Parts: sequence; C-alpha cells; structure tokens
Amino acid sequence: MRPSSKAFLDRRRSDVERELDRLLPPASSDPAEIHRAMRYSLFAGGKRIRPLLTLAAGEAFDADDHVLLPVACAMEMIHTYSLVHDDLPAMDDDDLRRGRPTCHKVFGEAIAILTGDALLTLAFESLAAVPLTPEEAPRMVHIIREIAAAAGTREGMVGGQVLDMLSQGTKVTPEELEQIHRWKTGALIRASILTGAMAGRSQPEEMDHLNRYAINLGLVFQIVDDVLDVTSTTERLGKTAGKDQSVAKATYPSIVGIDESRRIVTRLVEDALKSLSRLDRSTGVLVDLAEYLASRRA
Ligand code: IPE
Ligand code: IPE
Ligand code: MG
Ligand code: MG
Ligand code: MG
Repeated sequence: MRPSSKAFLDRRRSDVERELDRLLPPASSDPAEIHRAMRYSLFAGGKRIRPLLTLAAGEAFDADDHVLLPVACAMEMIHTYSLVHDDLPAMDDDDLRRGRPTCHKVFGEAIAILTGDALLTLAFESLAAVPLTPEEAPRMVHIIREIAAAAGTREGMVGGQVLDMLSQGTKVTPEELEQIHRWKTGALIRASILTGAMAGRSQPEEMDHLNRYAINLGLVFQIVDDVLDVTSTTERLGKTAGKDQSVAKATYPSIVGIDESRRIVTRLVEDALKSLSRLDRSTGVLVDLAEYLASRRA
C-alpha cells in the first residue's frame, strides 16, 4: 500500500473512533447494561473497512466531513449490529468475535438482541440528527434510503442472511452462493462506498463506474472471508477459524475450491480497478483498499 494511503487510512480510522465515541451514549448512562454492551461490541477492534471505504469515496468526491463522518459511522454501527446478531445461537452460534467473547456470551441473549436493535436504530438517528443546509438535505435523504435498502430484505443484508440460513443443509450452486454473498455482505460494502460519493458531488456516469467497483469489492470481501476461514487462524482472525467447514456451510472454498476462489478474487479486483480507472478523480486510496481487501490475512 502506498505510504500516502496508509497515512490517510490511519488518520481517518482515528476520526471514525472519535466520532463513534461521540455518537454512542456513555457506558454509565441509563440503562447502563445496554450501553455497555453496545460499546463492548463496537469498540472491540474491528477493521473499520466499511467506514474507511466511505471516507475514501468521500475524499474522491469532495464530500464534507460533517455529512461524511456520520455516514461512515452509521455503516459501522449497522455492520456491528449484523455481527452481534449473526453470532447468536439461533444463527451462527459463535463464541468469539473481534478477539473477545461474543456479545451474547458476556451480556446474555436478550441484551445481545437488543444491542443489535439499538445499534441499528442509533445509526439512523445519527444520520437524521446531522444539521444540513437546504442543498444538503435531499442528498441525505437519498443516502439514508440507500443505507436502509442495503441493510434490508430486498437484495440487502437481512435478505442475504435469510438466504444463508435457508441454504444450510441444502446443495448450493455457485450462482446461488454468489447471490447470498452479494446480499449478505456485498450490499453494505457497496452502500458504504456509494454513500461516500453521494455525500459529495458526482455525475450519474461517475456513479455507474463506482457502482461496478463497489459491487465487485463486496463480493471480493466475502469470498476472502470464506477463504480465510480455511487458511487462517483463530488468533489472527479474532473469530473461530474452520467454523464454516465444521458446520458444512456453503462457501466459495467448499464449492469451487481455494485456488478457484483466489482466481475469482483476482478477476473481480481487476474488473473493479478498471471501473475505477474510468473516473477522473483521486482514487488512489480506493485502489489500495481493493488490493488490501483481496490480499488481507485477517
Ligand atoms: C466480518 O466482517 C463479517 C463479514 C461480513 C464477512 P469484517 O471482517 O469486516 O469484521 P470486523 O469489522 O473487522 O470485525
Ligand atoms: C456474515 O457472514 C455476514 C453478516 C454478518 C451480515 P459470516 O457469517 O461469514 O461472517 P463471520 O464469518 O461470522 O464473520
Ligand atoms: Mg453468518
Ligand atoms: Mg458468522
Ligand atoms: Mg465467515
């Protein structure tokens, strides 16, 4: 990664941490149990990929921080909610997340369910609370709609989680698996990128190119997650490695093999970078993030 991209990402990661801390209710505020649980799951050392993608796209499209940062943080809140619920016994039943016992292990299932609900709700409250100029207000409405759709049932995260659950114990085709991945993970990644650009000023044609980059990157992200489940360690991942195989989950490695999974990732990244190159914008960080997401080891 270019040193300039690394410096940008380090600086922006601190901005995200600070803004999240500002947006979250204090741990001691009533009812402390849920506020402690929200902070426990949110400040557990996630990679912050989604907010960083938002900020990198926002940088390319000259977005202003007073809109951009709450959007970035909303994406991280929704993502964290999805993880808290994904780990519940009724879903993937995982004990470890972000290197710590999962939310329900520490706070119990009822509080973990409510923690997810609360993070999702706070994301939208935070967006609606941003002071806006008359010119910015309709842009924010579009952003909120994009995020809500990406988190929802129609081609969004919840819809993908439903397909993921229903597919368990059935034979899944590569086409079906691609659809599950695009929805359960791709949609939030795509929205993170597009809303960064929407917070700034963009032409429709530019959004088409960015959209193609964003769709590919979302798929790359989950294929790499599937590969890491096989090739990495619990210690490095901060979640239980080998979990997918132990529950016979349909994944890219289980359906097409590790080598073909890697080839697919390479092809998707190439295509993503081609789309990005059509933009006459400073996309250096977006380029480096795509390469990082394809080659990450945790
Ligand atoms: C994990 O996402 C869940 C998937 C969608 C694959 P991340 O790998 O971004 O998790 P954190 O935020 O870094 O913990
Ligand atoms: C998670 O997919 C997708 C969402 C949380 C929406 P996984 O179930 O593969 O994520 P991990 O492996 O538990 O992080
Ligand atoms: Mg899951
Ligand atoms: Mg899971
Ligand atoms: Mg996984």
